[in-house]
Amino acid sequence: MKHFAVFGTHPRLSLAEFRQISGDSTPQPLLIGSAALSEDPAWDGAVLMNRLGGTVKVGDIHDECTLDDLNAGRIVKMIERLPREDRIVFGLTVYGGTPAGKRAMERLPLEIKRELKTRGKSARWVTSENDQPLSPAAVAKLNLTTEGYDLAIFVHGTNVSIGLTTHVQDADAWSLRDYGRPVRDDENGMLPPKLARMMVNLARIPEHGTLLDPFCGSGTVMMEAALATHADMIVMSDIEATQVESARRNLNWLIERRVLREDDRARIAFATSDAKTIARHVNGKVDAIVTEGYLGPPLKGNETQAKLDKIVDDIASLWRDSLAAFHPLLKPNGRVVCVWPAMKTSHGTARVDLTQDLSRLGFRTVNPLERWDDSNAPLLYHRAGQRIMRRIVVLKRDTQS
Ligand SMILES: C[S@@+](CC[C@H](N)C(=O)[O-])C[C@H]1O[C@@H](n2cnc3c(N)ncnc32)[C@H](O)[C@@H]1O
Repeated sequence: MKHFAVFGTHPRLSLAEFRQISGDSTPQPLLIGSAALSEDPAWDGAVLMNRLGGTVKVGDIHDECTLDDLNAGRIVKMIERLPREDRIVFGLTVYGGTPAGKRAMERLPLEIKRELKTRGKSARWVTSENDQPLSPAAVAKLNLTTEGYDLAIFVHGTNVSIGLTTHVQDADAWSLRDYGRPVRDDENGMLPPKLARMMVNLARIPEHGTLLDPFCGSGTVMMEAALATHADMIVMSDIEATQVESARRNLNWLIERRVLREDDRARIAFATSDAKTIARHVNGKVDAIVTEGYLGPPLKGNETQAKLDKIVDDIASLWRDSLAAFHPLLKPNGRVVCVWPAMKTSHGTARVDLTQDLSRLGFRTVNPLERWDDSNAPLLYHRAGQRIMRRIVVLKRDTQS
């Protein structure tokens, strides 16, 4: 059976995450807009949905045909093979295809309703605003994965694959972790939990492994690593004692709210330290370092080019010193997943890029999309209106060094 994944706001990054948690032999999926069709024989939708930060829906493909053969009768037959509630509630999203093709399919939901009516069934078609795919929250609220149908039609060339969503991202749980925690640090920048989760997954932390976040801030990486990995030790440190205290408070809250378990405490350690001297606080070697790093001071938007250049120089210098300190701490092939910021104001742009320094420091870049996309285009995370764009970089400790 074929399956599908629908990615969130940053499809390339989500695909990289998906690639890293799939086995290395997983066949390359077919990309259709912000979705992917997969023929992974080991597919487990529930496990994937629980694990991934960048994927909002997963499901199974139940039928395939040519565009010419796609019609309401065919979809109704497919629905009838999977009977659910008597009153049929369905959503329908088309992925891929030309704008003209999409327009031609605009009548499909009403035709499905009509077709169902001729078969004596009442049906309700649910839509979202602005022609967007039905959100995971709406699919969950209407129980479309168990009682109704969230139809997903993927157009590739002259063919279509027709699927049904089986699992959606738990919007409430993600939102609680993002907005509900007692300490949020908008001043220093705070990783969105979904991005933290994607970074954790890009690090491929082995079972019983050790993970370090030496610029932990209020502890978003800790939260997602504790939930998504079987790491035995998660070490959080920051140069500011107040930030370490914030991460501790957030951990207490996660346990109070039963997001994490009381015994998760035993696998989380805290330290106050400059990242450059973090070795003093870590016993043995770590499997991975997952960290956002310092992004520079908050920007007002009118900083000059000279000011941006200075900020970027300072951050790059901190990274050079920090990577030198991380090298002896990492196991061979251990990964560093980090953020190199790029800035834009009304007067200029600047970006942190240490590519030229890596080999001297004993690191190599990893392309997390290896074999699926060898373009090496940067993995970017950016929200409209933000002055700082995050470039997610995956490094590996060079075994030769
Ligand atoms: C962008 S914030 C990290 C936010 C964090 N990812 C979160 O989600 O809350 C960067 C952090 O780096 C810390 N920092 C700055 N310079 C540092 C250094 N030399 N060593 C360790 N931490 C440092 C700051 O105190 C700040 O908490």
